[in-house]
Amino acid sequence: MAAQTILFFPAGMMEVAGEAVAAQRRGEQVIGASSLDHDPDRVKFRDWEWLPFVFAPEFDAQFAALVARRHVTRVVSFHGAVWAHLARLLPSLPNPPELHPPRSPISAREGGQGRVWREDAEYLAEAWLGLAVPSLPSGLEFDGLADTAARIQGESNALKLAALVAVASVAPLGDVVEIGTLYGRSAFVLGWLARRYSLGPVLCVDPWRAEAARQAPAFLAELSQGWDMDPIFEGFRRNLSPCFHGTLNYQRQTSRQVRGDYGPGWQVTTPEFGATSYTGRISILHIDGNHDFDCVQSDVADWLPLVSPGGWLVLDDYFWPFGDGPRRVGDRLLAEGGFDFAAVIAKALFLRRSACE
Ligand SMILES: C[S@@+](CC[C@H](N)C(=O)[O-])C[C@H]1O[C@@H](n2cnc3c(N)ncnc32)[C@H](O)[C@@H]1O
Repeated sequence: MAAQTILFFPAGMMEVAGEAVAAQRRGEQVIGASSLDHDPDRVKFRDWEWLPFVFAPEFDAQFAALVARRHVTRVVSFHGAVWAHLARLLPSLPNPPELHPPRSPISAREGGQGRVWREDAEYLAEAWLGLAVPSLPSGLEFDGLADTAARIQGESNALKLAALVAVASVAPLGDVVEIGTLYGRSAFVLGWLARRYSLGPVLCVDPWRAEAARQAPAFLAELSQGWDMDPIFEGFRRNLSPCFHGTLNYQRQTSRQVRGDYGPGWQVTTPEFGATSYTGRISILHIDGNHDFDCVQSDVADWLPLVSPGGWLVLDDYFWPFGDGPRRVGDRLLAEGGFDFAAVIAKALFLRRSACE
């Protein structure tokens, strides 16, 4: 197969950087081009060309000459107007390069997963809770939520996130506590839901340390050896701090350590999220930390008593291919009772604390 020569134009757009760097790393022939005399993004490209502005009378001829001289096979453009001009121009060239994205960047974005997700949440809420949920977010809000959550590396899938939406829409007021946050995918959804339904502040608890992330099943223990959790901790703060200043915060400690401090009026202050005050009563408790039986057991013993009547426990990985810690703890809770609702959705056990015990 003939080698590709990819022209990025205009090369200074945000979407270009990642793609161009990756293509250069793969050893592909990459050219950046811009109409600015001193484009600051030039440094990202080993190979650079200048082109007139797309509206200049000489643009078409100079662009055609560049394509022919450099044997360009693919043109990447994320600028709506430039893309539209190139879509008209390229077919008229002798060896037309392929244009990427194939549809206008202005209209190329699909509807996302949001609408399907909303239907899932609606179905789950009605089928499960037996009541019409007061106000599910609109399809468009779901689109935004699903798209943004999907961009965060994580282990929670769309169905579980849809179930969280259903749960949040009927949860009582109080703190939303997550044990085990990783990069913050589920925390992002919880943070958004807590605000959308005015539930209360969110607390993310995770030591972000390899020793804590290490779990007993031999297969996992071996694979997770030497994981560096610092970039994950940084990723979490990068992902969530732009959205939740003051309304969400974190503690980089084990759940047991944090439980010692947590209570009514407790305040957490961090450089990225500012100050957040907690009520000490939990609306939704998401336990998704270390899945070894002893850890899940102590997470439940420490935190479940703080969940308000009508509040929720989401015990992640009740069905888990690597071990049975969450399953054994969940089965014990089911046997003990105290819940007026129980269901497994997307491998997680959802339990609602009875309003009157
Ligand atoms: C399965 S991941 C969490 C996934 C996350 N909820 C998501 O949606 O992507 C488990 C996390 O639990 C954390 N963890 C391990 N032991 C913990 C503990 N004792 N307390 C709190 N978090 C813990 C690990 O550091 C890891 O980040």
